[in-house]
Amino acid sequence: MTFDELLGSRRSVRNYRQDPVSQELITEMINESTLAPNAGNEQPWKFIVINNQAVMKRISDESKRNILARIAANPDDYASRYKTILEKEGYNVFYNAPCLVMILGPARLRNIYADCTLAAAYFMLAAASRGLGTCWVNLGRAIEDQEMLTELGVPDDCDIIAPIALGYPTQIPPVPKRKPPEILKIID
Ligand SMILES: Cc1cc2nc3c(=O)[nH]c(=O)nc-3n(C[C@H](O)[C@H](O)[C@H](O)COP(=O)(O)O)c2cc1C
Repeated sequence: MTFDELLGSRRSVRNYRQDPVSQELITEMINESTLAPNAGNEQPWKFIVINNQAVMKRISDESKRNILARIAANPDDYASRYKTILEKEGYNVFYNAPCLVMILGPARLRNIYADCTLAAAYFMLAAASRGLGTCWVNLGRAIEDQEMLTELGVPDDCDIIAPIALGYPTQIPPVPKRKPPEILKIID
């Protein structure tokens, strides 16, 4: 696969086959994601792998409930645009993928969002290079239930930055239309 082909095949996948993804592959992809640039080479990212769809459904339900409560408290919340879909009982924010990989890190670190996001980008490309599909699912990170956080192994001082659904795609969607980039100035 050329780099262009890889960029084209890394799409947000919302339809998954039910075949599991081997832990060996997941570990390889996590290793590759740690080649991402990161502030001070501190590599503060941490990973949680969930291969259990019942647990993923509970995370989906918890997150939907909390986002809907946030929208009820503040109708101007950014997530209001997803209200109708979030209200659907059958809507699983992880699209019934067989696996979820969460990238998280210590909330106190100034660059934690950038570091984990770069690891997530590398992870999603590593998955695409193996014919796997991913989708970064922000609608799945609103976990407030302390018992659930403990069960998932999320340390108290960490924020979940990137919940990534993972699995073999039933099909790879076309590239959603991109706007031309706004190059504000080229200074020679
Ligand atoms: C920070 C972030 C949050 C996202 N959250 C969601 C989400 O909750 N649900 C979803 O279906 N897609 C989510 N996406 C995927 C975007 O919708 C997707 O990247 C965008 O539509 C472009 O499509 P592409 O990834 O195929 O290029 C998210 C992507 C990013 C980077």
